[in-house]
Amino acid sequence: MRDLAIHIEHLSKSYEGSGREAGRPVLDNINLEIMQGEFHVLLGSSGCGKSTLLNIIAGFLPKTSGTVNVNGREVVRPGRDRGVVFQNADAAMFPWLTVTENVEFGLRMQGVEKEKRRAIAQEYLQLVGLSSHGSKYPHELSGGMKQRVQLARLLANDSAILIMDEPFGALDAQTRKIMQRELIRIWEKTAKTIVFVTHDIQEALLLGEKISILAAFPQTGIVKTCRVEFPYPRRETDQAFIQQYLELLGYFDFGGGI
Ligand SMILES: Nc1ncnc2c1ncn2[C@@H]1O[C@H](COP(=O)(O)OP(=O)(O)OP(=O)(O)O)[C@@H](O)[C@H]1O
Ligand SMILES: [Mg+2]
Repeated sequence: MRDLAIHIEHLSKSYEGSGREAGRPVLDNINLEIMQGEFHVLLGSSGCGKSTLLNIIAGFLPKTSGTVNVNGREVVRPGRDRGVVFQNADAAMFPWLTVTENVEFGLRMQGVEKEKRRAIAQEYLQLVGLSSHGSKYPHELSGGMKQRVQLARLLANDSAILIMDEPFGALDAQTRKIMQRELIRIWEKTAKTIVFVTHDIQEALLLGEKISILAAFPQTGIVKTCRVEFPYPRRETDQAFIQQYLELLGYFDFGGGI
């Protein structure tokens, strides 16, 4: 039996402000259990609160009420036990550092010596297909390349919990496939706990051991958590895949049908 990595009980979050949604909870009574080593996908439409939830788990955003525990301790701030890939790659990189320096930044903060951290940065830049771009600056990169730098940095930092907010959203279809496969390979090899946000049902089914569906605004909460039973590597054309895809599709309201 695996231990709990993330335990969320009765979590609610409202943003202050004067807009349409002021005071209205974005997240309401969220209950979630994620085991150590689990690949857990949070699936939901745009604006349903996925990034809000991830940012609370990561310790970047205060909750309104409820409890969020990581490895038995209440989350009050960001920590090295949780590595994050942000949805907005621009905000997540230091523009005055090169790609390599961005990737090795966390290792530098940990006091890892220069040669060793260079080697680790190289290894992960190669993995994400950017080994020849290490001396570039963030403004010289495309959106997809920036996302891959974030991913390399996440892996270089080697946190036990990886929190990923639509990390492949800006990638072309082919690169996305490669990165999805790589992520599964890394997860199988390292037994990390992964919390992965996407709005894409196919991506959720390709990656997740478990999938939690968040209700679309103005509803709140987790509509359903389900297990994906068929083995990796998964293929969109498999019968089991198609069957569960249609099942998950049923939880989304397309206002008039598809
Ligand atoms: N800083 C903020 N202040 C006020 N409201 C906010 C803030 N951040 C997000 N919201 C609101 O909270 C809701 C959820 O936003 P969030 O970014 O968590 O959604 P999301 O599911 O990640 O969407 P997407 O798939 O588009 O990234 C939205 O209605 C948004 O307008
Ligand atoms: Mg988001």
